[in-house]
Amino acid sequence: MNRRDFILGSGVTVLSVSAIDLFAISGTDGKSRRPDPAAQATPALKAIACGLHAPNPHNTQAWKFQVLTKTKFLFFIDETRILPMTDPTTRQVHIGCGAFLEALAIGVTSLGLTAKISLFPEGMTSGKDLSLPIAVVEIEKLQDKPHALADLIRERSTSRLPYTRPWERAEFEQTLALYPRLKDQVRLINTSLPALYGIAKGAMEAEMRTRRTSEESRIWFRANPKEIAKHGDGISLPGLGTTGAKRWLLETFVDLKSHDEWFSENTLASVMQGFEKSLRSTRSFVALVTEENSPLDWVQSGRDYLLLQTAALQRGIYFHPLSQALQEFPEVAQFQSQLNDLLGIRDQQKIQMFARAGLSERPWKAHRRKIENLIL
Ligand SMILES: Cc1cc2nc3c(=O)[nH]c(=O)nc-3n(C[C@H](O)[C@H](O)[C@H](O)COP(=O)(O)O)c2cc1C
Repeated sequence: MNRRDFILGSGVTVLSVSAIDLFAISGTDGKSRRPDPAAQATPALKAIACGLHAPNPHNTQAWKFQVLTKTKFLFFIDETRILPMTDPTTRQVHIGCGAFLEALAIGVTSLGLTAKISLFPEGMTSGKDLSLPIAVVEIEKLQDKPHALADLIRERSTSRLPYTRPWERAEFEQTLALYPRLKDQVRLINTSLPALYGIAKGAMEAEMRTRRTSEESRIWFRANPKEIAKHGDGISLPGLGTTGAKRWLLETFVDLKSHDEWFSENTLASVMQGFEKSLRSTRSFVALVTEENSPLDWVQSGRDYLLLQTAALQRGIYFHPLSQALQEFPEVAQFQSQLNDLLGIRDQQKIQMFARAGLSERPWKAHRRKIENLIL
């Protein structure tokens, strides 16, 4: 019996499960761990602080900034924070950049500011050469009223918890009517649920069983509160839904980051058990589909994803991206074909985001890095 099994199996009756449930649900944590936009010294820094609230793959925050003036900055991908194994084309990293720009554009209006964003001012980045800026951003005084979603930017989070109700089609249609630019790209899927569960589960297991992709998650896993606070990035137990006593026990007594624990069949089984529990509570999924698959499509999809997610949050609806089946490595290719067939994807079309959507408890809020560490 190893240390983890011993802890969980010996007298800790609250944890009377054969495998640890890494995704167990418990309370909420609304404390802010992200930079406060209003507290920043200049309009450029306020805008960056708004953008930092955006979702991004593995929470690596692959973002860096060259501040040109108090109101203008260049926005780059931080190449030291990309995910070469799970995101070999850098498609997802670009989506995270788009989400950053949309969070910024919406968020700054709550401070009486507006953002002029010019994408790829020095030409489009290819998936490989990431040295060119993604955008130049100029902040001006807002003449209009704030965006309807401005105050929600700071509230947004990914929720990997089980969902108690779906995003109803009528609500979805109302959102599209409010934000018509989303119409061509966004789909709500609330049929073929068993097939979708099977694809999402199969792809997740394939990613976890592929040593190099699982290792990438291990590298970005923050094993305890000290590490989470020190790095201000990455994925962690509470982000996956494990809080309270169970979190404390695991973080204190189990070295989940060790190779032996991380790659063990027990860990795989417990992660899959928690993942499936949340997955099977899902009654609606959303997909963002583009006609082509260029870096511009990626950034635009990120912008659209952020807008859609924040608009849904107005009704208490959270999203949880399930990217495994969309990823560009061979071990998940069969799941991508299955998902493409199910959604009727044709020609050059690409599913950029696929997420479950529904009502959940308020999730734990993931950290962000300190703003000064992102400035060149
Ligand atoms: C392009 C992209 C892909 C993502 N894929 C996944 C995923 O497959 N599974 C998951 O749990 N979260 C996924 N996420 C969510 C991120 O992990 C999440 O945004 C990040 O950890 C920060 O947390 P927050 O969204 O709660 O602020 C994805 C986010 C983006 C932008």
